Amino acid sequence: MSLPFTPESCDGCPDKIVCRCLNVSEAQVIQMITRLEVRSVRDLTHHTGAGDGCTCCHAKLQEYLERFGCEAAAMG
Ligand code: FES
Repeated sequence: MSLPFTPESCDGCPDKIVCRCLNVSEAQVIQMITRLEVRSVRDLTHHTGAGDGCTCCHAKLQEYLERFGCEAAAMG
């Protein structure tokens, strides 16, 4: 019998999944934003596949772009 998904059940997970359809992790998304200077959801989809399914993660991807894109730009 499997346990229901809860935030607590992710405590031991090695990486947070941002896009469940394409199984793309938070680390992959942040790496694209900070290293390849990806600045749009469309480009994130092109480089990682994230957002190429049901599209319900697009708002979350946009949040990552705004947060980590600004930090990367500020660092030069
Ligand atoms: S969760 Fe990302 S496309 Fe469905």
